[in-house]
Amino acid sequence: MNENLKKLAAEKAVETLESGMIVGLGTGSTAYWAIKRIAERVWEGLDIKGVPSSERSEQFAAEWEIPLIGIEEIDRIDVTIDGADEIDPFLRLIKGGGGALLREKVLAANSDKLLIIADESKRVETLGRFPLPVEIVPFAVRLTLNRLRELGCTPTVRLDGDRPYWTDNGNFIADCQFGSIADPEWLAVQLNQIPGVVENGLFVRMASAAYIGRSDGTVEIIK
Ligand code: A5P
Repeated sequence: MNENLKKLAAEKAVETLESGMIVGLGTGSTAYWAIKRIAERVWEGLDIKGVPSSERSEQFAAEWEIPLIGIEEIDRIDVTIDGADEIDPFLRLIKGGGGALLREKVLAANSDKLLIIADESKRVETLGRFPLPVEIVPFAVRLTLNRLRELGCTPTVRLDGDRPYWTDNGNFIADCQFGSIADPEWLAVQLNQIPGVVENGLFVRMASAAYIGRSDGTVEIIK
């Protein structure tokens, strides 16, 4: 992973923004560069309103004086720019390494365009080497983990020190090691049918394009 490559990809995606847009702000170390570049463009006169996908991103945006709009005040997002943990050749994604998958998926599902930004290390042939983050309610965790295991993974409750990691929505994350996910569409449906699962980190048929920062200094755009 290389910060320069993340920055390259982020800045290229931010070039597509135009005044008047409502823009979903992603979460994570790559989205950080996008938020920073959006702030610079706002200082230069770009007139957009941002919708953050996490408390962390909201803090960056507020600090850098990006105008924000409340999620309850909008009916549609023009474009969301966000990172990913894995991207396959069909633009299917694993997201949630930063713990913000639920809000990220809500933004993605309500965006006309979802632009994914990443360095080239995130590209994979098959999803699943990165443990799939699944947001679960803190009730009956043991039973929910049993159901997750039945789908063929080894789930681990994410920790923050010696306590469970809490999401912005007051839930836990189960990181589910699948190894390889043959059918992400099928798995995404199965996961969300488990009572106790709030949402899973498989983003299928959501990304419009991926901006990949490459070590030769170029940005590849996959559509
Ligand atoms: C946050 O919950 C995630 O979905 C991030 O978008 C993803 O983990 C990528 O993060 P990095 O850009 O930090 O690798």
